[in-house]
Amino acid sequence: MRLYGALILFMLLSTACGLKCYTCVSTHIESCTRAINCVEPLNRCFSMNVTGVITKGCRKAINCLSNMRCCEEDMCNSATASGPTAVLLLAASAISTIFL
Ligand SMILES: *[C@@H]1O[C@H](CO)[C@@H](O)[C@H](O)[C@H]1NC(C)=O
Repeated sequence: MRLYGALILFMLLSTACGLKCYTCVSTHIESCTRAINCVEPLNRCFSMNVTGVITKGCRKAINCLSNMRCCEEDMCNSATASGPTAVLLLAASAISTIFL
């Protein structure tokens, strides 16, 4: 429980101190392993796939379009669609915290 609280605190702090996003322009998703620190006002990570060319990086929320995936957690624009998975993991850990 305390660990969980610390984790949430850490997540809040780490978003407050700037966002880390994967960045690349590549046809090979596997090579998108470099992460950068986004600077204000770039407060979203994005990834998009334009005819097989994967582009990732930092972006302003207002510039997120429907053809790209934007998210606001550190490194959340990784290869797989980690958004829903992360939410599931969080829900699972919340549930196990309550019931165990
Ligand atoms: C990107 O789109 C192309 C088709 O336009 C598809 O073949 C490829 O699998 C996609 N890549 C990813 C990582 O979604």
